[in-house]
Amino acid sequence: MRKICVKETSALNGEIRVQGSKNTVLPVMAATLLASGVSVITNCPDIEDVHVMCELLRHLHVKTKMSGNVLTVDTRQAENAPLPYSLTGKLRSSILLLGAMLARWQRAELGMPGGCAIGLRPIDLHLEGFLRMHVDVSLRQDMLVCRSFYLQGCEYHLRFPSVGATENMLLAAAGAKGRTVLRGAAVEPEIVELCRYLVSMGALIEGIGTDVLVIKGTGELTPSDYSNVYDRIVAGTYLLTAAGLPGKLKLTGIGEMSYMENTIQTASRLGISVKKQQDGILAISSGQARAGCFESGIHPAFPTDLLPVLIPVLLTADGASRVRETIFENRLGIVQELNRMGAGIRVSGQTAGIPGGIKLTGCRVRATDLRQGAGLVTAGLLAEGSTLISDIGYIERGYEDIVRDLQAAGAVIMYEETDES
Ligand code: UD1
Repeated sequence: MRKICVKETSALNGEIRVQGSKNTVLPVMAATLLASGVSVITNCPDIEDVHVMCELLRHLHVKTKMSGNVLTVDTRQAENAPLPYSLTGKLRSSILLLGAMLARWQRAELGMPGGCAIGLRPIDLHLEGFLRMHVDVSLRQDMLVCRSFYLQGCEYHLRFPSVGATENMLLAAAGAKGRTVLRGAAVEPEIVELCRYLVSMGALIEGIGTDVLVIKGTGELTPSDYSNVYDRIVAGTYLLTAAGLPGKLKLTGIGEMSYMENTIQTASRLGISVKKQQDGILAISSGQARAGCFESGIHPAFPTDLLPVLIPVLLTADGASRVRETIFENRLGIVQELNRMGAGIRVSGQTAGIPGGIKLTGCRVRATDLRQGAGLVTAGLLAEGSTLISDIGYIERGYEDIVRDLQAAGAVIMYEETDES
């Protein structure tokens, strides 16, 4: 059983090349199904979620080949097949294959999606949209059975700007007949990238980057290659961690800076001097974080995924802080493990009161979801002694190699093989 051992680290100095974006590449992989042919995706992160998505595609007779960070997807022999829960349950983004399969075959049968246990994560907004597109939706045992004789463009106002539901509707609408108008759509960078990819395949989409998207079904789409953007959450993980430790940390591979503008602003509020450079950013930190009040929100607000990383950093701050989560019910799950390390955080509803000037004590902790796991790594770097993190498979779902990355910046972090689970 592999664990991550993190030791108190005195400074972060060095350069980390930020991996490609997980949440962008997964919908793009689903989108390859909309055309018949070969697509090459570069800067694809070599992470567990991508491997599972490849497995799901292979179940549909799609050939996938990962070579370094280049993923080749060949959909020429793609065939419709039911996707069992044993596979779909491993990944939240498996639900995006529903929109893609409907676009390609007008029918889809698949198990319910899985994903990190950060909340209830229903799919009602996805299904409401499909119903409007004349899709017949039923549940047979644990399988969602969706079919349409005529996938028809529609008008749909999302009650909440769900990232996944917007992506699913975009995928289906690109293969539907007629015009689809999505109002109240999500505006996250991952949506912009998916729109751009669909456009490169021949789809007609207006309003990219706004909350009103108009998609015109064009019939035939053609395969297209995709150069993946950097992972703004991975970049944010390292940038915010730097606020708790002195040093100069350079993050490279960062393209479109606006994708993480709020995270950069938050890092500045914490006291980091962030200098934008040609291929990335340079973070200069005194290691003394400033306390404050922070709140997650939909883009362009502070990303919910980074709250678990921000919280341990705030524990080292010069005073008490407060953070509020507004998207998921269980994003503050990290507090339980941090309190075992001596944090003394109080949670009331979706708000956490974080005392400042706390020196955590390293101990054995357990990762329970992807970003909570990343937050535990940050906590371990700031804690006295050693922190041993188990269930690191959660971290590996989204971080190519968090140990390699942080070692490059001088962190004392390593894998540890143990017999115990
Ligand atoms: C995606 C990201 C995740 C990020 C989140 C918000 C991926 C793989 N994951 O998740 O990292 O934290 O966006 O930026 O891209 N909801 C409903 N009904 C639905 C769908 C969602 O009530 O049908 C609710 C959810 O329970 C949640 C909120 O809407 O409270 C946001 O969910 P959503 O934007 O859909 O997030 P995901 O696409 O799951």
